[in-house]
Amino acid sequence: MTEQIVILDFGSQYTQVIARRIRECNVFSVIVRYDTPAKELAEMSPSGLILSGGPASVYAKDAPLPDRGIFKLNIPILGICYGLQLLAQYLGGKVEPGLRREFGKGMLRVKDSFCPLFANLPETLQVWNSHGDRIARMPKGFKSVAVTENSDYAAIESGDRRTFGLQFHPEVVHTPHGREVIANFVHNICGCGKNWTMRNYIEQAIETIQAKVGQERVILGLSGGVDSSVAAALLHKAIGEQLTCIFVNNGLLRGRESTVVREVFGRHFRIKLQYEDASRLFLHRLKGVTEPERKRKIIGKTFIKVFETATKRAGKAKFLAQGTLYPDVIESIPIAGNPAAMIKSHHNVGGLPKKMRFELIEPLKCLFKDEVRELGLELGLPREIVLRQPFPGPGLAVRILGEVTPSRLEILRNADAVVVEEMKATDWYYKIWQSFAVLLPIRSVGVMGDERTYDYTIAIRAVESQDGMTADWVKLPYELLERLSNRIINEVKGVNRVCLDITSKPPGTIEWE
Ligand code: XMP
Repeated sequence: MTEQIVILDFGSQYTQVIARRIRECNVFSVIVRYDTPAKELAEMSPSGLILSGGPASVYAKDAPLPDRGIFKLNIPILGICYGLQLLAQYLGGKVEPGLRREFGKGMLRVKDSFCPLFANLPETLQVWNSHGDRIARMPKGFKSVAVTENSDYAAIESGDRRTFGLQFHPEVVHTPHGREVIANFVHNICGCGKNWTMRNYIEQAIETIQAKVGQERVILGLSGGVDSSVAAALLHKAIGEQLTCIFVNNGLLRGRESTVVREVFGRHFRIKLQYEDASRLFLHRLKGVTEPERKRKIIGKTFIKVFETATKRAGKAKFLAQGTLYPDVIESIPIAGNPAAMIKSHHNVGGLPKKMRFELIEPLKCLFKDEVRELGLELGLPREIVLRQPFPGPGLAVRILGEVTPSRLEILRNADAVVVEEMKATDWYYKIWQSFAVLLPIRSVGVMGDERTYDYTIAIRAVESQDGMTADWVKLPYELLERLSNRIINEVKGVNRVCLDITSKPPGTIEWE
């Protein structure tokens, strides 16, 4: 059984970050609800337990509380922020509102250089805090091992050096040595090796897939995005010819999209690829439609219909594979004040009807996005696919305001190609979440040479984001913006003006429709 650290989620917006940091130490981690019974936890045989932060106060009436049995599991425990306060309260200490909220950067001074959490770290560390409560009385058998200006109990440990609490957040980037603190916990204190690697995962996953699929056949809807592409490559390695990928061209794809997919999967990987060109049907149904939600609905419905017919053509299959990722399956904790509870992803999940009579197979279900990328590279997929930015299911239709027509699609494809090319050439493409062109079908006057023009506008959208839920517009260098503007106006017929979108999300969305 794989060694693992289990994280009890008390609703912190950083719970997933803790899980990722642990995996970066090559140790597997899973997130479970804060009230998971200790008996269930014991069955998972974790090497250690982490109690996450959370927005509540441990003394509040409706504070989320764990099963008391977790302290009898006889495994190392680390409480972070709310988790530390829980430890203190549960083990006989006292927590109360602090005189001052401690928020943002602080300096931590380690008092006990023998504390294994801080092994091989400097005596003073920059840390990131976000808490209002503080420990007023330490639980019995615990001592303080580090302090900040505001707190005498910034880090505590039990006498047997098996239970620890941190008032700061070691998982966030604003705690520069935080990774080492987490690594100390998982390796030195919990005794985990470094077994969680994508190479090991491939072997394991192949066995699991083969055992589940047997001699049956599997169908996968391949979109050309990172997740479905990596799922395809992994399944192909496991079951070869038993896998059929269906690629639907909805007529709303970017310039080279369908060529790249056919080259990479059909020719290079020799995956059985069923190419469905439904572009005429999609464009026909979108004719005259301008309202954003209606456009999306039509595209969604048409996709399902086309895909259903395609699966019939693909022949009998027992399984449908999907590139679902771990963040899609982690149950969000509905605690007031937890932003993660409200912003559960609203799209991205396949949207295929339940009535399709397939059993689901989701080989990426326990992976984070960065792991999926690593897995893709390990499986030999090209960077062009693995490092792609997200692209919405309804494609260019949500980037053409108003009616989608073949001529507008062509203009947007050409402009988009320039944006992608320049962003890649300067490496900005790989540094940010998304960058693309949007077509605004309003005309404005311009001059080109001696002629007056009256053409469309392209807006450039470039955003940074962790997960698409919130985003910031990117301050691209002027030289790059200048090149984008010059090239689009010179090379893309039908466009005479380029604008930059400087709206963050919220209040704006990333896509324009
Ligand atoms: P918004 O526009 O809602 O987008 O700020 C957030 C992220 O989701 C992507 N997006 C979609 N992805 N199907 C998808 O698979 C969709 O219908 C869809 N709409 C938006 C968008 O590109 C951004 O990354």
